[in-house]
Amino acid sequence: MNISFCCKDDNAGLWMGELQAALPQALVTLWQPGAPKADMAVVWAPPQQFFDEQPELRAIFNVGAGVDALMKLRLPAQALVVRLDDAGMAVQMAEYVCHAVVRHMRHFAAYEADAQLGRWQRRLAPDRSTFPVGVMGLGVLGERVVRALQSFEFPVLGWSRTPKVLTGLDCYAGLAALPHFLARCRVLVCLLPLTPETQGILNRETLGQLQRGAYLINVARGGHLVEDDLLPLLASGQLAGTTLDVFNTEPLPPEHPFWRHPQIRVTPHISAGTLPGKSIAQIVDKIGALTRGEPIAGIVDRQRGY
Ligand code: NAP
Ligand code: GLV
Repeated sequence: MNISFCCKDDNAGLWMGELQAALPQALVTLWQPGAPKADMAVVWAPPQQFFDEQPELRAIFNVGAGVDALMKLRLPAQALVVRLDDAGMAVQMAEYVCHAVVRHMRHFAAYEADAQLGRWQRRLAPDRSTFPVGVMGLGVLGERVVRALQSFEFPVLGWSRTPKVLTGLDCYAGLAALPHFLARCRVLVCLLPLTPETQGILNRETLGQLQRGAYLINVARGGHLVEDDLLPLLASGQLAGTTLDVFNTEPLPPEHPFWRHPQIRVTPHISAGTLPGKSIAQIVDKIGALTRGEPIAGIVDRQRGY
């Protein structure tokens, strides 16, 4: 079996070494233009040329949960596209989101500012029963985030494309239910895949339907947020603040107004990092299952886009 590796990653050597060690019967090579044809690929943000030169792939393993970049390319029709299923990302996402929610609700940013001034001042946190957190996207990551939020006793509601039944969660599904879901949220967490249906879904109209003074956490993709709508929503008080981990342009340019805005907290797309060990173990298991003709989880529905 030939596996072609094509990832923009400084640790390509480490990834390939671990893959090769776990699959001694395979030949793992770093792709370069003109490379021999492979039957499996392990990729992150590959160029179109990669797929143009690899028409015989049986499976494409995406080294990440989100496949939006892959879905923009022309892929070999017969190839299965397989995304990472958790692989250590879900718990990171849960801690990131809980940190952002708790930091906002318990006024930790204000305490950090007070500390600079040596000011001893207690601030009242709202009753958490009045602090509903809505999670858009109830997939592998969204569901883990929901469970983490519930452990802190926040009322949690969720929104997905198809109806779900999850313990202790008020679930909404589909576009028709979106305004009802939004109207209840004091915090909104976006964990949707970026598809033609979800592009720009966080905008003046939808964010305007949240409770006044709501807080937005976008940990999915920059393309979900209409960035030009954000500053007016903050200025009007409709949004109290936001934590953004993802942006339309990454890296976020140094001169971008979001960096220094007092109500915007920026992190550089780190809410859930890909862990090489767990990711390689998952990919190796799935290659084994496919080789034996067994079913695997995480196959992307190309029609749906996730
Ligand atoms: P997933 O398992 O595919 O779950 C996606 C969820 O979104 C599902 O519940 C799905 O509904 C819902 N959804 C999709 N399209 C929708 C629509 N049009 N309307 C309403 N709901 C819709 O994905 P995941 O593994 O949880 O990951 C989610 C996203 O997180 C990824 O696509 C990626 O962009 C992002 N991510 C970011 C980072 C980071 O570091 N910032 C790290 C990893 C992932 P159904 O359940 O009905 O199908
Ligand atoms: C990271 O953003 C991922 O999609 O895994």
